[in-house]
Amino acid sequence: MGKKLLLEHINEPGIETFDVYRKKGGYASVEKALKTMTPDAVTEEVKRSGLRGRGGAGFPSGMKWSFIDKKSDKPRYLVCNADESEPGTFKDRYLMERLPHLLIEGMITSSFALGAKTSYIYIRGEYMYIVRILERAIDEAYANGFLGKNILGTDYSLDLYVHPGAGAYICGEETALLESLEGKRGNPRLKPPFPAIAGLYASPTVVNNVETIAAVVPIINMSGDEYAKIGVGKSTGTKLISASGHINKPGVYEIELGLPVEEFIFSEEYCGGVWKDRRLKAVVAGGSSVPILPTELILTTAKGEPRLMTYESLSDGGFATGTMLGSGGFIVMDETTDIVKNLYTFARFYHHESCGQCSPCREGTGWMEKILHRLHHGHGKKEDIDVLVDVAKKIEGNTICPLGDAAAWPVASAVRHFRKEFEAAAVEELLV
Ligand SMILES: Cc1cc2nc3c(=O)[nH]c(=O)nc-3n(C[C@H](O)[C@H](O)[C@H](O)COP(=O)(O)O)c2cc1C
Repeated sequence: MGKKLLLEHINEPGIETFDVYRKKGGYASVEKALKTMTPDAVTEEVKRSGLRGRGGAGFPSGMKWSFIDKKSDKPRYLVCNADESEPGTFKDRYLMERLPHLLIEGMITSSFALGAKTSYIYIRGEYMYIVRILERAIDEAYANGFLGKNILGTDYSLDLYVHPGAGAYICGEETALLESLEGKRGNPRLKPPFPAIAGLYASPTVVNNVETIAAVVPIINMSGDEYAKIGVGKSTGTKLISASGHINKPGVYEIELGLPVEEFIFSEEYCGGVWKDRRLKAVVAGGSSVPILPTELILTTAKGEPRLMTYESLSDGGFATGTMLGSGGFIVMDETTDIVKNLYTFARFYHHESCGQCSPCREGTGWMEKILHRLHHGHGKKEDIDVLVDVAKKIEGNTICPLGDAAAWPVASAVRHFRKEFEAAAVEELLV
C-alpha cells in the first residue's frame, strides 16, 4: 500500500468541516510555519522536498517561489489554478470537493512563504458547486482565526477569495488566468515578463496548481527532506492520478512516484486491469495534451526497461517513443478503441478552446479538426494524413502559449504509432 500524504483522511466522515479536519491534525502546517519558521525557511523546505508543479509542466515549485520579486514595493499574490479543464484530469475536483480545508491550509502556508496578503483560488466555472464548498470552508477558517487579521495572534494577515471562471480551457494557462482574474478576456500574455515579476495587476505573483499547493502541507509537517525520500530521482513525493477509460476501477488514486505503469494499470490496488477481459491498446498518460503511447511503449521504454510513473521515465525516449506525466490524466484504451475517432474528439476540443490570438493555433486547430472529421467519416484521402502531421508541426512551438503544442502533440504521436489505422480510414480517391 503506497503512502497517502494528501488523501489519507478523505473517507473520514465530516472531513470537509473545520472541526473534523482539525481533529485529524489539520492546520498543523500553518501553526508550524507561522509560529516557528520564517517565510524563507518555508520556501527552503519546499525546495528541499523536490516538489514539482502538479499542473502539468512539472516545474520545481521551490525554485518558482524564489523567483518572486522581493524588491518590488507592490503587493505579492498567490493564485491557485483550479481551472482543471484538461480532458482526462479530475483530481483537483476530487480534492477540493472532499478536502477543501487541505487546499485552504496549503494556501495559507504558501501565501505566508511568499509574503502574500491577498490570495485567490481561480476555479473553472463548471465547478460552481465546489465554489460553495470552498466558500463555506473559508468562512470556517476565518471564524477560527486561520484567515483574516493576525492569524493565530501573529503579525501575518491573509484574505482568501474564490473566483470562478466562465468555462474556458485557455483560462488554465497561467497568464490567461491572470487576465481573466483581472476581469478581461482570457488571452495568454507574452512572456517575459513572467508572473513572478509582473503577474496579477502587474505585481509579483505565483500561480500554482491545487495539488501543488496541497502538497505544501505534508512537506512542512514532515520536512522537505523526508518528503524527498518518497519517489525516484527528481520525481519526489506522491501524485494524484485521474484514471479513466477502459479500466475496471476508474477514479482518483494517490500514488508514490516511481510506481511501475504496469502495476498501476493491472493491480487491484489501482485500476484493476482492463475491463471486459479485453487487451490494452494504448494509454494517454498525462491528460489529452500529451503523446499517446501503444501498449508496448507505455509498459516498457524503448530500451526495454519497465516504464515508471515518474516525470523522467514517462518522457524517456522523447516524443519518438515517450510521453509525459503532465497533469496525471491517465486515459486507458482497450483493443476496440478507434484511434482516429479519439483523435478527432480531441481535435474538436482544441479547436473550440483555442483563444484565436495566434494564427498557427487558430487556423491550424480548425484545419486539423476538418481533416480528422473527413478521415473519421470515411471521406478523407491518404494525402490528408501527411497534411495533418505537417499542420501539427507548424503549430508546435509557434504560439504564445502551449495550447498549440497541446493540440499538436497528440496528433503527431497518434499518427506515428497508429499510422495504419489512419491509412485504413482513408480512401484512395474520392468518388465524386
Ligand atoms: C492551455 C493550458 C491549460 C492549462 N490548464 C491548467 C489547469 O487547468 N490547471 C493547472 O494547474 N495548470 C494548467 N496549465 C498550466 C499552467 O499554465 C501553469 O503551468 C500551472 O498552473 C503552474 O502550476 P504548477 O507549477 O503548480 O504546476 C495549463 C496550461 C495550458 C497551456
